[in-house]
Amino acid sequence: MSKILIKNIKGLVQSGENLSELVKGSNMQYLPILENAFLAIEDDLIVEYGLMDEWGGITDWRDVEVIDAEGKYVLPAFCDSHTHIVFAKSREEEFVDRIKGLTYEEIALKGGGILNSARRLSEKSEDELFEEAMKRVKLVNSYGTGALEIKSGYGLSVEAELKMLRVIKRIKKNVSFPVKATFLGAHAFPTEFKENHRGYIDLIINKMLPKIAEEKLADYIDVFCERNYFSLEEMEEILLAGKKYGLIPKVHVNQFSIMGGVSKAIELGALSVDHLEEISDEDIEALKNSTCIPTLLPSCSHFISIPFANARKIIDAGLPVALASDFNPGTTPTGNLQVVLSLACVKMKMTPEEVINALTINAAYAMGISETHGSISLGKKGHVIITKEIPSLAYIPYAFGDNHIEKTIGF
Ligand code: NIG
Ligand code: FE
Repeated sequence: MSKILIKNIKGLVQSGENLSELVKGSNMQYLPILENAFLAIEDDLIVEYGLMDEWGGITDWRDVEVIDAEGKYVLPAFCDSHTHIVFAKSREEEFVDRIKGLTYEEIALKGGGILNSARRLSEKSEDELFEEAMKRVKLVNSYGTGALEIKSGYGLSVEAELKMLRVIKRIKKNVSFPVKATFLGAHAFPTEFKENHRGYIDLIINKMLPKIAEEKLADYIDVFCERNYFSLEEMEEILLAGKKYGLIPKVHVNQFSIMGGVSKAIELGALSVDHLEEISDEDIEALKNSTCIPTLLPSCSHFISIPFANARKIIDAGLPVALASDFNPGTTPTGNLQVVLSLACVKMKMTPEEVINALTINAAYAMGISETHGSISLGKKGHVIITKEIPSLAYIPYAFGDNHIEKTIGF
């Protein structure tokens, strides 16, 4: 039996019962906070919380770890619903190329980008990839991440895609917080299939998907729907094939161009549409009539100097927004969600309340774990963050560049 009591909490954030599983539009401004509170966690579950004044005390003090959180906030751990945390090598040479004026697309066209990562990944063993990914998982956990979605997509062959997904499965087994696996075989066309799209799509559908289903290696299916990558029709075919194996779509759309991917993904039952640096009025309308959550990735916009998603337009249309890191070696070499909080405030004009909703309750929805994560409610998992001593909650995105998290409970 493990018992944790956190007392004298300056603010217990996102706490309450019967909270809605998705916070939308103007409601994103509202963040339920109990001031001067306590929280009790038993065997990984939230068993009691409330105001210090109303705390009944503990009768049985055996084996209780007591944490005094005077001056500190407690929040639900951040959920990162979009990462590519399994990769073989960093790509700082492309970063330098971009400084010198090349664009992300130009670098990809000359053999860099996703294909560069795929080459490197084919050279590494499952064990090496696992060890290196676990280091990153531990690091992001220390910054407040307590749930992770992880994509394949740097394999691009049957063998290497399976290798990546097996690494993700091992990560799942080695941490006690939720890890969701997304199959992203349709991340780019490998060089040998550059002129033979049919051949690669057949490989995905006939060779990769059956094996993935047999070994139960994925929860979701993703496609990078973009010019020079996968067309709308190709995305549709792949998502439909994935759905036959029970894989729910969660897709990369509208990063550089609007190709109709948002409405198509919604039509196919997507849980989330991610990126949306570009967005049309039709996309907004389609989202309004759906249960699909727009997920924005400001660290990617920052790092490759592309427009930031228009979060205000989306929220002001009454829609929910989730934020995620997109941690990957090409467009976002950090999985620190405190950076995401800050960029979303500064560059996308989201308020501190909105960004915290977007990284807790809405992010839990975006990875299908709202029942157990995303808020501090009785019976939910006790995966929470304790901040350092800070003057206010807005201080977290405000004082960018520092780690404001003292401890993330539940690894
Ligand atoms: O989400 N846009 C597609 N996929 C990744 C980048 C992949 C890479 O450059 O390695 C993203 O930004
Ligand atoms: Fe991504």
